[in-house]
Amino acid sequence: MDLVKEIQGLKKKKNAVILAHYYQVPEIQDIADYVGDSLGLSQRAAETNADIIVFAGVHFMAETAKILNPSKKVVLPDLNAGCSLADSCPPEAFKQFTEAHPDHVVITYVNCSAEIKALSDIVCTSSNALKIVQSIPRETPIIFAPDKNLGAYIMKETGRNMLLWDGSCVVHEAFSMDKLIELHKKHPDYKIIAHPESEDHILKTATYIGSTSGMINYVKSHADQKFIVATEAGILHKMREEMPHTELIPAPAKEDNTCACSECHFMKMNTLQKLYDCLLNESPEIEVDPGIIDRALLPIERMLELSK
Ligand code: 13P
Ligand code: SF4
Repeated sequence: MDLVKEIQGLKKKKNAVILAHYYQVPEIQDIADYVGDSLGLSQRAAETNADIIVFAGVHFMAETAKILNPSKKVVLPDLNAGCSLADSCPPEAFKQFTEAHPDHVVITYVNCSAEIKALSDIVCTSSNALKIVQSIPRETPIIFAPDKNLGAYIMKETGRNMLLWDGSCVVHEAFSMDKLIELHKKHPDYKIIAHPESEDHILKTATYIGSTSGMINYVKSHADQKFIVATEAGILHKMREEMPHTELIPAPAKEDNTCACSECHFMKMNTLQKLYDCLLNESPEIEVDPGIIDRALLPIERMLELSK
């Protein structure tokens, strides 16, 4: 069976849209109607006229699309495609944390569950985190969750103190500083670019720090340079497609794995076959409690409004 042809046929017949994150496997990125970062994907989900949203990403992203489109069907190729960062912030513990600091504005990174979003004042992504934090009056104390690395980076950039939740991404904490230094010694003419979910010592080596789309745009606007890329290795597919002549090396992970780079096994759970199956069967479907949707929508809408 020609999966690509079958998916395209089903998509048309069912008026479905395929949204994919840059960390998805190349064949999924190639068939998607839109490939983007977390902010771009939320913006597309908010705008779509499709009846079915096939979300080729991880659970919290599909959940965000569902919160923005409660009457639409949102399907995720593999329901087990979770996120270590989202898992590091359980709702009950986070509720107690926010209740212990009632005077704080709660800003949450989009990589969290719908329940955590429902406990937030405003959501952000790595594309707009600095802008969102800066939109809060300086004298207002802030809780920032769940990513402590992104939180620490924002504190450094804004010079503002925030109360951080102790969460992190397994993929961005897997980069090896020793191997990165060794690699850079071999290739001193390569510039290091990094995602702000990475640890501070990795960020200190970087010429540019930004979201996945920020990193792609940076590479595009510096076509004469070569790069070591410190984020999930799926991003290299889009970079190579858009800049075939730019030399790119994925930043090395502590543990050797198949590609000697960092891969998110949650993102890689989605395959073209699973995408076909979920479009055909309209399952597994994302369900979010209507009461949670009611409370989680406003903080997401505030973010979208501030990102225009
Ligand atoms: P962005 O694509 O928004 O930069 O986020 C990266 C990420 O970790 C998604 O899970
Ligand atoms: Fe979560 Fe990290 Fe995977 Fe992104 S790369 S989905 S933050 S585990």
